[in-house]
Amino acid sequence: MVSLDQVVEDAKRDFDGAADSAALEDAKARYLGKSGILTERLKSLGALDPEARKAAGAEINQVKSAVEAALNARRQALADAVLQTRLSAEAIDVTMPGRGQDSGSLHPVMRTWERVEQIFRSVGFDVADGPEIENDWFNFTALNSPENHPARSMQDTFYVEGVDEQNKPLLLRTHTSPMQVRYASAHVAKYAKDAKDGVMPPIKVIAPGRTYRVDSDATHSPMFNQVEGLWIAENVSFADLKGVYTDFLKTFFETDAIDVRFRPSYFPFTEPSAEIDMAFGSGKLAGRWLEISGAGQVHPTVLRNMGLDPERYIGFAFGSGLERLTMLRYGIDDLRLFFENDIRFLSQFPA
Ligand code: DAH
Repeated sequence: MVSLDQVVEDAKRDFDGAADSAALEDAKARYLGKSGILTERLKSLGALDPEARKAAGAEINQVKSAVEAALNARRQALADAVLQTRLSAEAIDVTMPGRGQDSGSLHPVMRTWERVEQIFRSVGFDVADGPEIENDWFNFTALNSPENHPARSMQDTFYVEGVDEQNKPLLLRTHTSPMQVRYASAHVAKYAKDAKDGVMPPIKVIAPGRTYRVDSDATHSPMFNQVEGLWIAENVSFADLKGVYTDFLKTFFETDAIDVRFRPSYFPFTEPSAEIDMAFGSGKLAGRWLEISGAGQVHPTVLRNMGLDPERYIGFAFGSGLERLTMLRYGIDDLRLFFENDIRFLSQFPA
């Protein structure tokens, strides 16, 4: 039988050799477990006579304490080592420069939006806002859009559940043009009664906002932004529209080197109708005609639907895409970049 001193030696060696707490607990079992060496020795005391048992028992218990002390020391050492590893892994180098917090900036389309508002306000236009969930009247019927117009089809339009008071479908507005009728009708309701000599103050408004169509590719997104413009008075002419819009483009693009042309087109709510094209005088896109807006003289039926007498009032309207203007201003060629929220793209437009 090995001496008790040897047992202490062996236990210390085994404990120190245990690389982790699982190995240590195994080693512990060999000495202090149910059938461990020291436990067995204590059990064997029963065979001794009382005097010898007392002396031998005291000796074994002393050894047991020594083994337990060695065990606890090793446990502590292993725990310290684990903690040390963690602390150095999670160490913070207080001498490193801070990460800082970048400040965000306006989305490029919102910049265009704000710029457009600012420019039109500076020439006397009001800015109006209206619902994105529209009804059939404002989005189509009041704008003289015939029942069989393709824009009304399920393929082109997002219809939403529910109907309006006329039992007509509700939809996400496909353009900002409904704001023409909303704004003008409210204007008529407000001024018609008190109008001096029956003449109302002119309507001069833009309405920027979100619009929706079932459409998705590099130049179309199911959600996009338009700005509607409307100018109604007794004596405006196409020349006024042309002047205001051309000035707007020059201010917006910060250059006088822009050519503008009005190309005959068709919209149900204007007659005559035009497509406004522009061409830059210099730069990457120089000399190429780019379609920038729809426009036209407000159709007599639409004027009537606004509560206005088409014999007396004449109006001009336009509807331009805010994404389009933004793409041209910054030379962006894929509309989808606007809606992907990719920081690498957005951070190119710092505040
Ligand atoms: N609402 C038309 C569209 O979304 C654009 C437009 C064309 C607006 C002519 C107008 C206009 O006000 O006069 O395609």
